[in-house]
Amino acid sequence: MTTISFVSTKGGVGKSTLTWITACALAHNYGKQVVVIDADLQLSLSSTAASIDNLPFKVISASLTGIYDVLNAIEDECDVALIDMPGILHTPDGSREGITDFLFFVDVMLLPLKAHSFDVLNVTAFQSVISEVVMRRKSLDSITEVAYFINDLHSKKSAREVERHLVSDNMPMLGRNLSRSVSIERSVISADSLLNSPSVSPKIKIEFKHFMDSIIKLL
Ligand SMILES: Nc1ncnc2c1ncn2[C@@H]1O[C@H](COP(=O)(O)OP(=O)(O)OP(=O)(O)O)[C@@H](O)[C@H]1O
Ligand SMILES: [Mg+2]
Repeated sequence: MTTISFVSTKGGVGKSTLTWITACALAHNYGKQVVVIDADLQLSLSSTAASIDNLPFKVISASLTGIYDVLNAIEDECDVALIDMPGILHTPDGSREGITDFLFFVDVMLLPLKAHSFDVLNVTAFQSVISEVVMRRKSLDSITEVAYFINDLHSKKSAREVERHLVSDNMPMLGRNLSRSVSIERSVISADSLLNSPSVSPKIKIEFKHFMDSIIKLL
């Protein structure tokens, strides 16, 4: 079983939406047994799941401290566990210990960025937390895959600037950025894969397929 999580220090960057569309595509198009662990306080994925029949994956809600127990319980029944983390990842006292504990169970960390300079500054600061988790896991022979990507593209120019920054800091990137894929899927809101949906344009399908193929390579 591989655990994947969209991780961010900022709220509203698309974690829950990306978790959902990734889960749908993994289950429908890549033949994976998927469980979504909803640790987002808003429980938006649990409530969406409750309104849909024949969902091709399970959604289990858990508190941050309960994630480990859920992972243990589902280990034998699924290929991929997608964890939807809360909006803002920090502990009340601002200590990193808590954060690294929650991220310790994540094999593949995907970090969505908006193409904006504030987000770059945030991510640069967060990179040290990520490195700490990677080192801790490495000392126990666990590999962590980390990849940044641009979600919610504002303009090609600002995206290029963000990419240049990531490359110059040697930050690993997913091969392809998402732009409009999510908003289209949001209007669909169903358990279909965006790749199969008749209302999604071929351009968006190609964009999302690149994104999914990059994720599959990290599993
Ligand atoms: N690629 C995209 N294109 C357009 N809209 C997007 C894209 N990604 C996310 N959004 C929109 O951004 C908003 C926030 O998304 P979402 O709730 O998934 O973020 P989140 O990171 O889970 O937020 P929170 O931090 O509150 O948990 C939603 O309205 C969603 O539709
Ligand atoms: Mg969310």
